[in-house]
Amino acid sequence: MKKVIFVVSFFLFFINSYSESLEKYKKDINLNSLINELEERLDKSLIPTPDSKIDKALQEDPRYYLKVTAKDKYERTRLLELGYDIISIGNGYVEGFINKNLMSNISDKEFSIMEKKSLYEWAYQNKDFPSQDSAYHNYQETYDVLKQIADKNGDIVSLFSIGKSFEGRDIWAVRINTTSKGKAASKKPGVLIVGNHHSREHLTNEMVLLFAVYLLENRGELEIKKYIDTLDIYIIPMLNPDGVEYDIATGKYRYWRKNTNKLGGTSVVGVDLNRNYDFEWCKAGASSYQSADTYCGKSAFSEPESKALRDFMTERKNIKTALTYHSYSSLVLYPWGGRDTQVSDEKDRTAFIKHAEEMAKILGYQPQQSSDLYVASGDMADWAYDKLKVLAWTIELEGSSFYPGSTIISKAFERNKKACLYLLSITDNPYK
Ligand code: ARG
Ligand code: ZN
Repeated sequence: MKKVIFVVSFFLFFINSYSESLEKYKKDINLNSLINELEERLDKSLIPTPDSKIDKALQEDPRYYLKVTAKDKYERTRLLELGYDIISIGNGYVEGFINKNLMSNISDKEFSIMEKKSLYEWAYQNKDFPSQDSAYHNYQETYDVLKQIADKNGDIVSLFSIGKSFEGRDIWAVRINTTSKGKAASKKPGVLIVGNHHSREHLTNEMVLLFAVYLLENRGELEIKKYIDTLDIYIIPMLNPDGVEYDIATGKYRYWRKNTNKLGGTSVVGVDLNRNYDFEWCKAGASSYQSADTYCGKSAFSEPESKALRDFMTERKNIKTALTYHSYSSLVLYPWGGRDTQVSDEKDRTAFIKHAEEMAKILGYQPQQSSDLYVASGDMADWAYDKLKVLAWTIELEGSSFYPGSTIISKAFERNKKACLYLLSITDNPYK
């Protein structure tokens, strides 16, 4: 039913802009030909992306989509009287629209709101990357790749979830280890590569995901075989799956950075996951304003995604090195990021700087202390080093936009696979 309404409303939205293509029906317009045309478009997925005029009108539409509890026809009648427009009836709830200036009519005492979205968001939900960027992997496609490589390399690969996101998506990890499977501990030196703390940084997912594919495709090659045989390798391409899906959900990018935590309300607010780790939490370079892009959350590790990574790393004392991917600025960063001073342990400091320089050389990026970019507390690398003594670097990928297009993927990967291999090469002893 919903689908039918959705399709029909799409048809209505676009009928204007299709007046041109309707020219051909002028002579002999009838219901059948219109329906055939519609079906043809559906078959070929030719539903046009909205033109900017319609887009703007939708964005400015004052109505909200609401899913709200309503147990019987009396409650449904009451909702109509309050200005709510019912579009579908479910078991114990209804879906429909209401103008934002009537929103306060739906009081918490009488009804409870299960979902709330602007009309624009509702109309364009469940979309994907814009077609020119379809080479990027969304959440499901990322999982599909991980599953494939795990199935194909079942002797050495385990695929498991490190926990669930705010919206309940599994955060997938791939482990490559020739002697330990699943979540069993390993004595081998461990290395972790993680992407997509920030939603809009889609290129980071690609780098991490492709690296897993690359390692396994070349598992017989001498250098790679050595790493696979001697290390405990963890790869988590998409730490913030909700944010990624939210960023692409309208079919247009929305520059979303945070997760999609609603903080007890009905609309997305979001917490900056790379400000939510427990190191100098919410001091410099983080915001306590909920609406800020760098909102640090209600407390350190308030977020399921950062908490999942914390527990994952804390439980694996063998992890020695880590790389966390961001975009964009062409940088290799090392702690501290939340403090303006250098790491005091000389051995660690030397290792941080040396390997940042080596990776930067491979990449053609700049090495620098994180806080020289800006002091920002609560990031993953600081926490991992402070609490676990993991040597963790942040790579800010190349490009001059969060959305650098798909042609950058292979170019960036050629460089980054070498930087990742370098990280593997030092993991057994980063101090040598
Ligand atoms: N650009 C990333 C962020 O804003 C990483 C910054 C590195 N960390 C830092 N504390 N400066 O989260
Ligand atoms: Zn980032």
